[in-house]
Formats: sequence, C-alpha cells, structure tokens
Amino acid sequence: MLRRDFLRLSGAAAMTPLLPVGLRADAEPDQVLRAAADAAKLMGADKPATPVWAFGGQSPGPVIRIPRNKPVHIRLENALAEPTSVHWHGIRIENAMDGVSGFTQPPVQPGAGFDYRFTAPDAGTYWYHSHHKSWEQVGRGLYGALIVDEDAPVAVDHDLLFVADDWLLADDGTLAGGFGDVHDAAHGGRLGNWLTVNGDTKPTLKVRPGSRLRLRCISAANARIMAFAFPGLTPSIAAIDGQPLQTPETLDGPLVLAPAQRADLIIDVPATPGAVFDVQEVSFGAPIAAAVLAIEGTPVRNAPLAEPLVLPANPLSAITPDPAGAVHVDLVMQGGAMGAMRQAMHGGRMFDMRALIMEKGQAWAFNGQAGKTDTPLVEIARGRTLAVNMVNDTRWPHAMHMHGHHFRVIERNGKPVANAPWRDTELVDVGEKVRIAFVADNPGKWLFHCHMLEHHMAGMGTWISVG
Ligand code: C2O
Ligand code: CU
Repeated sequence: MLRRDFLRLSGAAAMTPLLPVGLRADAEPDQVLRAAADAAKLMGADKPATPVWAFGGQSPGPVIRIPRNKPVHIRLENALAEPTSVHWHGIRIENAMDGVSGFTQPPVQPGAGFDYRFTAPDAGTYWYHSHHKSWEQVGRGLYGALIVDEDAPVAVDHDLLFVADDWLLADDGTLAGGFGDVHDAAHGGRLGNWLTVNGDTKPTLKVRPGSRLRLRCISAANARIMAFAFPGLTPSIAAIDGQPLQTPETLDGPLVLAPAQRADLIIDVPATPGAVFDVQEVSFGAPIAAAVLAIEGTPVRNAPLAEPLVLPANPLSAITPDPAGAVHVDLVMQGGAMGAMRQAMHGGRMFDMRALIMEKGQAWAFNGQAGKTDTPLVEIARGRTLAVNMVNDTRWPHAMHMHGHHFRVIERNGKPVANAPWRDTELVDVGEKVRIAFVADNPGKWLFHCHMLEHHMAGMGTWISVG
C-alpha cells in the first residue's frame, strides 16, 4: 500500500527527464538532493512506515557537510508532483541562492532541477528545508541538517546530530491531513502528536565513557516550541543558531528550541560504562523520552573533561552593529485568535478580520499588512545598521527569522541587553518588545518572517531590501 501511494505521488514526475539539457552540461555537483515522495519509519523500525516527502530518500534528508569559505555546488532535483525549492537556513548566502520560491528564484517545477552554488562564510550548525509551501513541504519531511565545518577539527570525541521534529500523525501512522488549515494558522500552528529525533522514535545515541560529545540540536518543527531536558548530565551551550558563544554557558533548565532554532551542546559524558541517560522533551506536559544516551565501549578518559569548549569565532563576530547610527523600523505583530486586530490590508485592500480569514486565509499582520507586500518593510543602504523594534501585540509567541543575516537582541522590553548571542531566529513572547540590530551588509531582498510556518502562510511575512 505504501508502495502504491509512493507511485501515485511521484509517478508522473518520475517519468520525465530530471534536468534540462543546459543544466546537464554544468560541472558535476558536489551533492545531489532529490526531492521525492517516500516512506519513513518515523515510529520505529517495528512499526509501519509513514508516507512522507523527503530529500534523498530519508527524512531528515542526507546530512550536508561542507567546508567553511569554499564554494559548493548542490543540485536539487525535483521528483515531487509539485514545485519546490531549497532554503539554506542561517547561511549568510548570496541572494540568488537563498531558495525562496517565487521571490529569490522561480519555483523548481516537477521534473526540473536547480543548481545551488554558494560559499558559507561561518562554520556551525544550520539546516536546509523546502521554501515552497513550506508549511506543508517541511511538515511532510523536506528538510535536513547542514553542517559547515570549522577550518580545523574541533576537539570532541563524538559529533552527533539531534534533529527534532513534531509530526501530526493519524492513528494508522500516516500524516494527518489539514496542512494549511486556517484555524490552526490563527492559533499555534500545526502542532504535532509524535516526536522524532533524527527521524526515529526515541533513538539511542551511543557515546564512549568519559567522552566529550558535541550534540548539534536542530528544531525542524512546523510550529511547536520544544524544550529538552538532560537529567543527570550538565550540557554547556557552545553555539546558538550556528554561532559560537564567546563564553559557553552551562544549560540551567531545559534547552528551549523554537521552530528553526539550533544549539550546539557540549556534553562531557560520565566515565561510567553501561550508564544510560534519557533526553526528555518537556513542553508537552509530562516529560517524554526523546532519545537515550547510552554510554558504551572503552573509556576515552577516566574522568570527563571539565574545561568548557570554546568554538573558534566566525567572521560574523567582527561585524559589529552600530546602534547609534542605525536605521530604525518598527514591526508590530498583530492578529491571530483572541487578538485585538479588527482589520488589515491584504493585496492593497482593507479586509475585516472575518473576511481576511474566510476569503484570504490570512489571520496575522505586521504593521497592519497581512502578507508580503510589493514594497519592502525597509530599504537600507548596504553596510548600515538596521534596528528592528518588534512588538508582539498578539496572544501567541512568534519565532522571527531574518534571511541572509544574523542579528543580536539589543533591547528587551525597553531594557538594554548586552552581549546577546547572534541569532537568525528569535522567539518573541506574548506582549514582548524585542529590539534587534545587525549590519545589513548582504545585498538583495531578504525575507523576514515568523518561522511558525502556518503563521507565515497566514500573513506573518515581510522583507527588507539591502542596496
Ligand atoms: Cu527556515 Cu524563510 O526560512
Ligand atoms: Cu508566529
């Protein structure tokens, strides 16, 4: 039955030659990412597979591991029955390679391909995902981890991924329908009922006694803000959204990951062969075991290392924003269920809330505008600092993602913040005011949107233009 579904979903596309002749003449890519309907054992090896859409036959897709500061060439082949694209989330990338379908590139049609060529300036933990109807395509499994390596190997014994996703499954283990549901969109988005880590249910990660583990945590959830606890262990945070912390911080309390956020944890594993530790997800209420850390094999050392690991700084860390000389812009988030928004502009016309939802499938607005407009939120000269004052005037938290740049929070609820980490996705809580700043040094047009994918679909997207 799964096989039949697979054929039904991908049949037409699979018959057509994948790449136009012009592309075939290109130099061979370093890696090919083929998007296709497939099936994945999300619920565990002994349970039925779930029909998904996936890159490279697996969800998460293949790990893409590239060097820093060297050009790479990755070819997308679209064997889906609908258009797609790939966005390289968190990379300060050339604008034409940002992968936003219908904005920085045309959608990649079924049977067609696209050659992504870019150079990643900063080492760290990133991810790639579809940026075409992403609320559905990411929700169906079209994403994977993207690792940019440091120039020299970092002194850890294990370098493991922890890619968490929150799936909404029906009783028979298939994906529940309702992608793009406007009711969900006006609330917290598509919240799941099944947690996977690395595409599996409660996988076991094996590490050696006394080893130092770098755990690259990535949230691929559509909408849920997840939180992971590591009882019995003392992780430190070495990087956030790919960018190293100058001073690693001990994790006190659960690691909160809003959709699209990442954190690199360093875990110095006890030198106790046979010990096991649960990693728990604690946002659902009662803790759920997300993964198991099993300590096995010959000890690496007799006692865990104590000195925190400091990752080498990225070039980004030298690009200091200049708040005094900044261009300031306000971004007021409005709408959603139980909000105060009564009307908003959409496509150049004013709609009351009911018509906005019922006729346009829009439920949110930035500064009174639901959805992306033809003109940018702000046009800024290249090299100037942009400060965005975000005000969450809704009853829901939002995970705001800036394309092409990382930023720092410089003020929260009117109070200055010193030395906030660099981020590409920041959670703005209900009622919060968060001012971010960054040097707008990457020319082009860059999306700025909520990464709760249904919120983005339903109006929470705008863009900036860097000239
Ligand atoms: Cu993770 Cu607009 O993207
Ligand atoms: Cu949102």
